[in-house]
Amino acid sequence: MDKLTIRDFDAAGKRVFLRVDFNVPLEDGKVTDDSRIRAAIPTIRYLLGQGARVVLASHLGRPDGKVQDGLRLRPVAERLTQILRQNVPVTGDALGVGTEDAVKRLRPGEALLLENLRFHPEEEKDDPKFAAKLASYADLYVNDAFGTAHRAHASTVGIAQILPAYAGLLMEREITILSKLLEDPERPFAAILGGAKVSDKIKVIDNLLSKVDLLVLGGGMANTFLLAQGKSVGKSLAEHDRVDDARRILADAEKKGVRIVLPVDVIVAKEVTRGTEYKTLMAEKIPASWHIVDIGKQSQEVMEAALLPARTVFWNGPVGVFEIPVFGTGTRAIARLLAEKADEGATVVVGGGDSVAAIQQQGLAAKMTHISTGGGASLEFLEGRELPGIAVLLDRPSAEGDSPAASSKPEDAGRASREPSGAKA
Ligand code: 3PG
Repeated sequence: MDKLTIRDFDAAGKRVFLRVDFNVPLEDGKVTDDSRIRAAIPTIRYLLGQGARVVLASHLGRPDGKVQDGLRLRPVAERLTQILRQNVPVTGDALGVGTEDAVKRLRPGEALLLENLRFHPEEEKDDPKFAAKLASYADLYVNDAFGTAHRAHASTVGIAQILPAYAGLLMEREITILSKLLEDPERPFAAILGGAKVSDKIKVIDNLLSKVDLLVLGGGMANTFLLAQGKSVGKSLAEHDRVDDARRILADAEKKGVRIVLPVDVIVAKEVTRGTEYKTLMAEKIPASWHIVDIGKQSQEVMEAALLPARTVFWNGPVGVFEIPVFGTGTRAIARLLAEKADEGATVVVGGGDSVAAIQQQGLAAKMTHISTGGGASLEFLEGRELPGIAVLLDRPSAEGDSPAASSKPEDAGRASREPSGAKA
């Protein structure tokens, strides 16, 4: 990875602003999935172990610049306290005199969590004054919030233009693993893409077509491809204005020698609800009043056979209406298949809410090579885009004698003033 990380500076006694992605699901004031908190623990422990004073900051949900009690970070701080076995208090607000005092009182090896950054509208606007206020809490900035790296906000970009900015260990791992998929995957390389809309995935498909050997498509987005093949999909979710894109992708794949696997049989339902009537049909001519809600058994077999030789697999998006358990069969089967592939030594990388949920529900998370903490961020990364929250971090000098401040990249202008005296780079 070509970015400087927390291993490149001496954190002892320093105030470190650590942006994490603690945007986790809550129910009845409790965190229901703490994966994102756990994923940031190595960085937090490393910095505390070095004797840093750590100011943690995150968003939670989309409160739209207003205080929403249901989106306060207290339950997250409580969970973090349990995991770290060290008290992590949460401030009443990200700004204010009380918060400034709490930050000043931090001793080496202590951490606090700022209240939800998005309670301030300035956060999402990347407001320079808000960024400067956040920067005033610290000597150094560390971004471990890969899941938010596609957002150009005050806590992901603005502050990193003021303080010397480094990658955390999770950020480093995400960048390293996802870069390997794009640059040097063990072949055959397969991508499995699902989810509702093809419009969300066109850019990633376009980029992956020149990287993968096999593309398996499922979920609502596959219906648009079935239409492009002249099949009828009944009342199923499909984007009629994207059929031309699907046709172009199919033609492009053929030109590039990439095999595309689409569902051959599907589960169709009268309604997309629990308890409705459903049956299996070939994915050819779905009657006008039925909805495709999952892949069928034959599709599972065809996909499994196609994936058999794959040595690298990336998966994003469910292949059915996963939130209705009876229509989550295909998605759960993909999760089990990928766990087997990982057991056999293949590299398996998964990103995206429902795909990850299907893995977690079946207790298979530990088997995967990597579960990305960023759904949207991992897709944008695989589109080949430079994510703003990554671009702004300090570059690793490329040759002996270079310094990050001497980098010729335009975004590095003014870096000299951000270089910390303790930097080892
Ligand atoms: C996510 O959950 O994908 C990240 O935390 C980013 O959240 P956002 O989509 O609300 O910016």
